[in-house]
Amino acid sequence: MILGLETSCDETAAALVTHDGAILTNVVSSQAELHARYGGVVPEVASRRHLELVTPVIREALAEAKAELGDVELVAVTTGPGLIGALLVGVAAAKAIAWARRLPLAAVDHLHGHVASLYLQPVALEPPFLCLLASGGHTLLLDVRDHGSKPRVLGTTIDDAAGEAFDKGARLLGLGYPGGAEIDRLARSGDPQAFDFPVARVPGLDFSFSGVKTALLYAVRDKQAAWLEAARPDLAASYQRAIVRALVERTQQAAEQTGATKAAVVGGVAANSELRASLGGAVLAPLPLCTDNAAMIASAARYVEPLPYPGYLGLDAYASTA
Ligand SMILES: Nc1ncnc2c1ncn2[C@@H]1O[C@H](COP(=O)(O)OP(=O)(O)OP(=O)(O)O)[C@@H](O)[C@H]1O
Ligand SMILES: [Mg+2]
Repeated sequence: MILGLETSCDETAAALVTHDGAILTNVVSSQAELHARYGGVVPEVASRRHLELVTPVIREALAEAKAELGDVELVAVTTGPGLIGALLVGVAAAKAIAWARRLPLAAVDHLHGHVASLYLQPVALEPPFLCLLASGGHTLLLDVRDHGSKPRVLGTTIDDAAGEAFDKGARLLGLGYPGGAEIDRLARSGDPQAFDFPVARVPGLDFSFSGVKTALLYAVRDKQAAWLEAARPDLAASYQRAIVRALVERTQQAAEQTGATKAAVVGGVAANSELRASLGGAVLAPLPLCTDNAAMIASAARYVEPLPYPGYLGLDAYASTA
């Protein structure tokens, strides 16, 4: 079995996955509450919390699967992109376990991990397919040709990521951090036609979400608290509609242009109920695998050339993809 570790942002996660993609256990400890008071992730606070949580989370994953470190054949870890201090905690933990047990180590790219959430059972999607990756830090349309190699980027955001737009919008609406799930919940009782928020149309297959965020800012600016309280569900529904429309339209355009017969959606924003309902024909990442988790990292490791013992001791993390 494969032990996967993920500490790139504010989730400390460990999972055990078999070589044929069955999830034995998938433990995620979110630090969201810790960062909520600051309205976003504080990198140094996240690193320190990962350090406290990484060992208990690994122990919990092993206990849940009634497994021991002796059962692990491969250790997989996210090496980037993400918060560098946070990544280093996972990388150091993975190296220590792999080295102590004389195991190979697989260095996994976080975005490859999100796509590989589709390769786990029972979905077990086979490439080629068009993949919308919408998360807190990325909005990408990917042409996935096979399980392992880097996919061609067909489109990306020229400013904010879709998840970032949800989080910033939530902040403007006075909702908690992280805001995507809160907007999703509130939007259910709101009218998506109440406000006419713009859907940016940039050239090609790229996205832009800064305009819709500014439109929301103007809508709520200088308003009384009572007005905002009453309008909040409508604002959330209209804002969500604009973001979801942009994602759906672009994905459909990309499918037409590439002639893709299969489309899929992954990443934290793939948890959004309106997006899931609007992308009817697409393969949706299972809900627990949308936001950061280690099962997707262990899944991706199955398609990565592992580094043999002990050659990985100098392995480093990277904050962003060049
Ligand atoms: N139901 C939802 N609707 C909309 N957005 C959501 C929902 N649930 C989570 N999100 C958003 O998903 C994002 C978190 O996703 P994820 O954990 O994949 O991102 P990340 O790891 O921080 O970023 P990246 O993967 O780009 O490094 C947040 O921006 C959050 O608001
Ligand atoms: Mg992520």
